[in-house]
Amino acid sequence: MSLESPFKADILKGKVALITGGGSGIGFEISTQFGKHGASVAIMGRRKQVLDAAVSALRSLGIKAVGFEGDVRRQEHAKKVVESTFEHFGKLDILVNAAAGNFLVSAEDLSPNGFRTVMDIDSVGTFTMCHEALKYLKKGGPGRSSAGGGSILNISATLHYTASWYQIHVAAAKAAVDAITRNLALEWGADYDIRVNGIAPGPIGDTPGMNKLAPDEINSKAQDYMPLYKLGEKWDIAMAALYLTSDTVDGGLWLSRPRH
Ligand code: HXC
Repeated sequence: MSLESPFKADILKGKVALITGGGSGIGFEISTQFGKHGASVAIMGRRKQVLDAAVSALRSLGIKAVGFEGDVRRQEHAKKVVESTFEHFGKLDILVNAAAGNFLVSAEDLSPNGFRTVMDIDSVGTFTMCHEALKYLKKGGPGRSSAGGGSILNISATLHYTASWYQIHVAAAKAAVDAITRNLALEWGADYDIRVNGIAPGPIGDTPGMNKLAPDEINSKAQDYMPLYKLGEKWDIAMAALYLTSDTVDGGLWLSRPRH
């Protein structure tokens, strides 16, 4: 189903966004909707083929898009991709951390290295990207005026709110992502005027995560136990992302204007 966006087509006009995991799933839908609403987008991912296909698809929609290969677990990759985005587009306004790792395994069968791997991708990777992007996102940073900072959006999940079978590594990692979001919102909001937000999607259909975690089972049972009798859609998350990264959420600028 193709729904009409509730936002003006120029809501992100002139903005530059870097989206980790932007080549597939929720990250790709966010990249697409950001582009359709005026942003230039850089996408980061580990797999060249996936990145190339995603960039072609974005460009075919008339979106200014570029792909940078990299693994969020590697600080030097994070640094290089952030710098390359700045060099390509001249600034950075929005960082979306959508890269994630996942597999189903019981706690008993999960090796400490398996646990660490998902923590490294989701939690440490998110922090590393934020850390490397700070210089460009802070007010007065390269390519920015002293008037306003950029924004960060972290994609989390809901499975750590309670307990989830065979997801101890992901639940721990996403709990850490939520903590990172709150702490950076406090520190970098106050010091640098950077707005840091998170979105915690529940099960979203037609994503690598869902295909891997719950091939058919959840889809067929969704009618029974999802409150809305359906899975969420990538579009839902992309619309929430648009709202949170646009000037609609602006720290109160709408309230008044400077005197002329
Ligand atoms: C048990 C596993 C495993 C599995 C990996 N490991 N896969 N253990 N079951 N299926 C363990 C390995 O044995 C190893 O530990 C350690 O993890 C590292 O494995 P590698 O294969 O070397 O890791 P790597 O190649 O870096 O790949 C990491 C990866 C990643 C996490 C497996 O490739 C991946 O999952 N990519 C998929 C991306 C994805 O699905 N994204 C969507 C996320 S969805 P040992 O001890 O043997 O060395 C999402 C939504 C959640 O996040 C919420 C849903 C509702």
